[in-house]
Amino acid sequence: MRYKAHVFDAYGTLFDVHAAVRRHAAEIGPDGQALSEIWRAKQLEYSWTRTMMGAYRDFWTLTEEALDHAFAKVPTADRKHRQALLDAYFRLDCYPEVPAVLRSLKADGARIAILSNGSPAMLDAAVRSAALDNVIDEIFSVDALRRFKTDPAVYDMVTTAWRLYPDAVSFQSSNRWDIAGATKFGFRSVWINRAGQPDEYADLAPAVILPSLEGLAAVA
Ligand code: LAC
Repeated sequence: MRYKAHVFDAYGTLFDVHAAVRRHAAEIGPDGQALSEIWRAKQLEYSWTRTMMGAYRDFWTLTEEALDHAFAKVPTADRKHRQALLDAYFRLDCYPEVPAVLRSLKADGARIAILSNGSPAMLDAAVRSAALDNVIDEIFSVDALRRFKTDPAVYDMVTTAWRLYPDAVSFQSSNRWDIAGATKFGFRSVWINRAGQPDEYADLAPAVILPSLEGLAAVA
């Protein structure tokens, strides 16, 4: 095991952000996928613009605001499902391979953390509902900084708290822009390219690309 710490992005990497709409697919109707994609895209856009403006609002608030915008853009989806979707987002499913992968890294002596834009309450709820609370050593939320990824201060939370050099940390994210930020900071970065997306940010390339977290132990 080369890396003392394995740090994971939460949304999209451990937890399936599209599971909320999928769980209510029948009620939401034919444009559920569009609703889910707009919801996610706007949630992220708000995180970047608010960090640049210095106008922080926590990630749960941005998640609510992004869903309201998505409903406005997708008229076939009925707003009466708003609360059900938010409740589902609060307790998202984790991807199927996640529990076993985290347990095996921990059994090999690595420290395991989440580093996420999520607010502490939403991260706690997601971790508990996925029964990952006994395998995750620490949850680092940007809420302590009131700035979102890809601000370098976010990645620095881990190295400062755990007194590690960045290159002792392996950082996993399915979000290519998050991988760019982590690479720039100096983490060993592993892009979990779940959706088979084309590469971008060529000057800030991941060290490893995997289709899921499945093969992580082999490059740990
Ligand atoms: C997170 C977002 C980026 O968990 O998915 O930080």
